[in-house]
Amino acid sequence: MTDINHLPAAEAKATHHSLAKKIAAHDIAYYQKDAPKISDAEYDALRRELLALEDRFPELVSSQSPSQKVGVSPARGFGKVRHKVPMLSLDNAFSNDELREFESRVRRFLGLGPSDEVAFFAEPKIDGLSANLRYEKGAFVQGATRGDGQVGEDITGNLRGVTDLPLNLKTGNGPVPDIFEVRGEVYMSDEDFRALNAAQTEKGGKIFANPRNAAAGSLRQLDISITAARKLRFFAYAWGEVSEVPGERQSEVLAEFKRWGFTVNPLSRVCANMEEAIDAYRKLEELRATLDYDIDGVVFKVDRLDWQQRLGFVSRSPRWAIAHKFPAEQASTLIEDIEIQVGRTGALTPVARLHPVTVGGVVVSNATLHNEDEIARKDVRIGDTVLIQRAGDVIPQVLQVSLDKRPADSKPFEFPTHCPVCGSHATKEINEATGKEDVIRRCTGGLICRAQAVERLKHFVSRNALDIDGLGAKLIEAFYEDGLVRSPVDIFTLEKRDAAPGSLQRIKNREGFGDKAASNLFAAINDRHEIPLDRLIYALGIRHIGQGNARLLARYYLSFEALRTAFAQPGATSDEAYASLLDTDGIGTAAADAIREFFAEEKNQQMLDDLLAEVTVTDFDPPQKDSPIAGKTVVFTGTLELMTRQELKANAEKLGAKVSGSVSAKTDFLVAGEKAGSKLKKANELGVRVLTEQQWLDLIDET
Ligand code: IVH
Repeated sequence: MTDINHLPAAEAKATHHSLAKKIAAHDIAYYQKDAPKISDAEYDALRRELLALEDRFPELVSSQSPSQKVGVSPARGFGKVRHKVPMLSLDNAFSNDELREFESRVRRFLGLGPSDEVAFFAEPKIDGLSANLRYEKGAFVQGATRGDGQVGEDITGNLRGVTDLPLNLKTGNGPVPDIFEVRGEVYMSDEDFRALNAAQTEKGGKIFANPRNAAAGSLRQLDISITAARKLRFFAYAWGEVSEVPGERQSEVLAEFKRWGFTVNPLSRVCANMEEAIDAYRKLEELRATLDYDIDGVVFKVDRLDWQQRLGFVSRSPRWAIAHKFPAEQASTLIEDIEIQVGRTGALTPVARLHPVTVGGVVVSNATLHNEDEIARKDVRIGDTVLIQRAGDVIPQVLQVSLDKRPADSKPFEFPTHCPVCGSHATKEINEATGKEDVIRRCTGGLICRAQAVERLKHFVSRNALDIDGLGAKLIEAFYEDGLVRSPVDIFTLEKRDAAPGSLQRIKNREGFGDKAASNLFAAINDRHEIPLDRLIYALGIRHIGQGNARLLARYYLSFEALRTAFAQPGATSDEAYASLLDTDGIGTAAADAIREFFAEEKNQQMLDDLLAEVTVTDFDPPQKDSPIAGKTVVFTGTLELMTRQELKANAEKLGAKVSGSVSAKTDFLVAGEKAGSKLKKANELGVRVLTEQQWLDLIDET
């Protein structure tokens, strides 16, 4: 590497020119020909040298410089697309009994009688990547990845090269609706996957672990000619925003998709009831090995669309569909070591380091051992040969030890009672409800524990939390290590501190950085000075508050101030806040306890004060602001006859109302059926508006 600190300007220019040329050539080899000539590390070194040079001689930066061109960093190269209708995931059933329970839930929700049959549409669950294809007046205009379900990446150009993706729709039974978003799975056939890997081996290019990874790697290419050359396919199975739905059943819409020119999976079929659906699962499981593409289970959807509509959604998945995955694949290997990882909440998780082994086409070298009890129960030891299992994308598990292969001198694994990172005591909490010891041992170090602090920061910036582009796990670790970022607020003061006169090492001078990268990072951070309420709540990493609960809380409190004030002082107000929180459907005692504890902690309040001095939190935007019940609190009581209580509740929430279990001064409506008792009495005393079920339905019908 040239010593750029002593380079005369003319030489700098020549060096820059030659570096830029080399990088451009390697970019073509890598991105367009899939045949890199140098290792990633060597390539990175070239780029670092170029960036360092530009840092010292800013006049060398031109729009043609590799530092200015997109096309090398696919993760940042795609535009974002907000889905008009969120792209959801599916709930899972793990046995036939769970499928039957799913059917019962559907029946209960819809209030069906014993003679009503529920027909299901059974579809193979394709192991690929879901995509949303938007058609306007029958022409393909935009395609996007699922992303986080709300916002995906614009991959229109790449999708144009996918086989089975019609660019213009043919007329079906009726004209094609003006607006129609078709959803489905992009995948690669096993044969194309093998051919691709063979070609990659020949070229010394990247080898993919399985067809799904190959499809993902091929789809998210900035150079769309690569995608087009990779033979990707598409099965259509769902839809997003549409101006009209062409059918009354899932099966009818898919038949229309076929007429429009899509490929729908030929193995999908209508099952008259759940027993037939279970039979369909068995048949697909048998067929699985003979198919030329990977399926990882079967998806069951209520066939009638009016029922789908009524069933609606629970947080991130529909109530009208469920997936039943095929059993996982297994293999035997050796445990070389057992390491203890410390997570965001201090949980000590044992991880088995394995002698690498291939399970269902993927090389596995780690498996989770869950917790101390699990190790003791299975008596897992270092040096043991074990049976491991991999299901889907989750981290593999250790199923059992082969005792006949255990070395004679083996000793039981001793689980540490101190945190391996900070040395604090690691204890098991007593569960208040059951009085029993928790199975998980946790480090008591809190934020003095480096592992917990770093994991919390990683969570804070992660995709479903603040989603700061370019500030990933590695950088958080490095910034933490160097004392640059120790608490969330530090992220937002980073630029100021970096520019301050006494700043020790400027970020742009760090390895792998440069002017451009540093300013990109600051821009990405500045972009997050306004944080949506639900994202902030999730980002705080409070135990038991995942994305679903964070949204519930946001919807309930609407502003961060309201949430914080409710739990501000210990004592009367917070007890009231606690009780009303428990009344919020979906929030259980564990979550409510965790919130109360979080706000009771002085350090957390300080952290929030600091953070809120730098950022603003945007209030929650209720889903349907103009509905007459948006933001109102309603209580249902008595025998309700027109709809099941569950459906009434779901409808109310969809229209932005809060459903509570008890009547208080804050209640806006009491919907009372027959035999309404004490709640009706209390509502009358408090002057709460009381409606019959019919009056309620008329009121919400106004929307
Ligand atoms: S329906 C609202 N049908 O599975 C329902 N999903 O676990 C949305 N998938 O993200 C999904 N085959 O990527 C549906 N026949 C099928 C599917 C399928 C594969 C994937 C899809 C989705 C994931 C959910």
